[in-house]
Formats: sequence, C-alpha cells, structure tokens
Amino acid sequence: MFRKLGKNNISAVGLGCMGMSEFYGATDDKVSLQTLKQAYDIGYRNFDTADMYGQGHNEELVGKFINESGIERSNLFISTKGGIVRSKTDKYSISVDSSADYIKSACEASLKRLNTDYIDLYYVHRLNPETDISETMGALQELVREGKIKNIGLCEVSSEQIKAAHNIHPIAAVQSELSLWSREVEENVLPTCSALDIALVAFSPLGRGFLGGNIDKNFMNSVSEDLDFRKRLPRFNDENIEKNMLLVKKLEGLAQEISTPVSQLALHWVLSRASNVHIIPGSKTSKYLQSNFDAQNLDIPSSVLSTLDEIFSPDEVFGSRYPEKILSKSA
Ligand SMILES: NC(=O)c1ccc[n+]([C@@H]2O[C@H](COP(=O)([O-])OP(=O)(O)OC[C@H]3O[C@@H](n4cnc5c(N)ncnc54)[C@H](OP(=O)(O)O)[C@@H]3O)[C@@H](O)[C@H]2O)c1
Repeated sequence: MFRKLGKNNISAVGLGCMGMSEFYGATDDKVSLQTLKQAYDIGYRNFDTADMYGQGHNEELVGKFINESGIERSNLFISTKGGIVRSKTDKYSISVDSSADYIKSACEASLKRLNTDYIDLYYVHRLNPETDISETMGALQELVREGKIKNIGLCEVSSEQIKAAHNIHPIAAVQSELSLWSREVEENVLPTCSALDIALVAFSPLGRGFLGGNIDKNFMNSVSEDLDFRKRLPRFNDENIEKNMLLVKKLEGLAQEISTPVSQLALHWVLSRASNVHIIPGSKTSKYLQSNFDAQNLDIPSSVLSTLDEIFSPDEVFGSRYPEKILSKSA
C-alpha cells in the first residue's frame, strides 16, 4: 500500500527507530543495524528518528545505516525531529524550544549525526506556545530553501496550529499518537489533515507494545524505570494495566475469530482510519518486521473494524497517554 508522504509515494508502514536507543529496555547497536537493513529489504522506506532519542544516539545509528548499508540515499526516506530539549538531570524531563535559532541549529546537528546532505521530512517535535508559529515556520522555510530539508512536519499539534502553519508553508505530515487506545486525533486533527492533503503519521500505533498482547502486569513489574519509560505512563501502572488488559483480551478474541495476529489487526485498524494515514510501529529486532509490514495488505471486514471502534471507545481506556506533568510535550 503506497501512500503520499510529502513529495513521495511510499509504503504506508514505516519503521519507528526510537526503541533502538532507549525507552523500551536494553538495546544493541549491532542488532539494530541488522534490523534497519532487514526492514529495508522487506520494503520499509520511511525511517523515523529524532534528535532526542538516546540524546543523538538514534540519529547516529540511522546515519551509520545510511552510510554503511550501501543503499542509495534516494531510496531512503529519513524522518527526524527537533524541538525537544532533554534535562541534564532527570532522564525523562524535557522542555520545548521551537524558536527559529534553536530549530535551525538542531537541524544542522541532526544533519551531522545522520551524516547526510538532506532530511526527507523534518518535524518540529513540539511547539512552544510562547513562540509564534510564523517564527518557527520561517526557520523551516529557510531550511527548505537551503535544500537541507525536503518536507516540513509537525508533531502533536492542534487543528488550529496545523491550519496556521499550512497557511505559511505546505505541511507534509503531522505526527501524532493514534492507536486503538489513543484516538483523540480522530475528532479534529485527522479530518483537518485529510482536508488539507497532509499525511497523518501515527506514532505508537501498537500502544507502545501493549496492543501486541505481550505486555502485562508481570512484565511491567519485571522492568526498571531507568530502562523502560512505560513505567512512568499512567496506562501501564498496576491498577490501570489490569483494566486495560480486558480490552486487549477482547481484541485477541476478535483476532482469533478471523485468524489474524492481534498486532496486525491493531495496526490495520489504524491504517483504516483514512487514506492519508501512515504507521511507524517501533521494533528493535527483526522479529516483528514482516508481520507489521504485512498489516497494510489485510482485508479485514468492516464489521470487525466497527466492533473494534466500540470496544475501544475512549471512555473504556484507563489512564492518560502521558503523566500530567509532561502530557503536552513528552516523548
Ligand atoms: N512524535 C512523537 O512524539 C513520538 C512519540 C513516541 C514515538 N514516536 C515514534 O513512533 C515510533 C513507534 O512508536 P513506539 O515505538 O512508541 O510504539 P509502538 O510502535 O506502538 O510499540 C513499540 C513496541 O511494540 C513492540 N512490538 C513491535 N511490533 C510488535 C508486534 N508485532 N507484536 C508485539 N509487540 C510488538 C516493540 O518491541 P520490540 O522493539 O522488541 O520489537 C516495542 O516494544 C517510535 O519508534 C518513534 O519513532 C514518536
């Protein structure tokens, strides 16, 4: 399934590279590089990273992949992001800087780490409400004019912010969380993107792994907060995970009825939201690459998709996406 992403038409399933550097347990660069190459061989083209993932490590890893894999640069679609500043003292604490100076210097640093002349899609990772959108967009336009970025993207923005930015320069993509248990964007953001011919790139389409069926209370109790960011997320706490697990059980039941892996059904549901939706499931190893990629080729009866709509009605989900303190700006 090819879908428009900026000036390109590419597979609607891209690869989320974040977990190869941090947030979801231990990592291994050698395995990550093999995974990136295997993903390319399967057909993945959109590789999603950000300067904040591993504080530069993730971009360096993708940079190695670009330069050591032997793949022609024009066959890759590299997406990265800038605008989130990590705290030096608290691993999971952040601030947001979308000023023109910061975005321009962050983009230069990303180009160096990626060891490439241009970035296919450069997202502002979060907008600082105190910075006028025209200032941020002005910096991005300059980067486009200089040939350093090919397409402009925004992350986790409101419908109003999308319209304001798009009036200044065409926005190619909006990246927001969208999955069975994170459906807020269905209300305004996705319709706005569809109307303006902007791609909606869905991050955490497997609910940070929860909708793949392998994560339960025992798993969460076995991991450390230092290595696994999910420990900080309300949906994964002892109380909420048990309640949310009831939804996954229903998802599993439906998947079984149609003989489809539960993760594929969850991913296909996201792609079925609209024809401009892309997904970037994250994977540190090759284990799930083929299955996740194939989620775009399923033929799922619409009755099953609407049953999922009902099961995962937003008021059935326990806990917010992020802790209150960082709800509007976290990774
Ligand atoms: N813009 C933003 O603010 C933002 C925020 C978060 C993430 N992102 C981007 O979105 C990408 C994807 O999101 P995400 O990684 O947070 O969440 P996700 O894709 O919903 O889930 C990733 C987790 O699911 C596991 N998984 C993958 N495929 C599976 C399958 N078929 N069955 C069972 N488990 C499976 C992965 O395990 P393994 O790694 O062990 O395979 C990993 O732990 C990130 O990599 C990042 O690039 C962007």
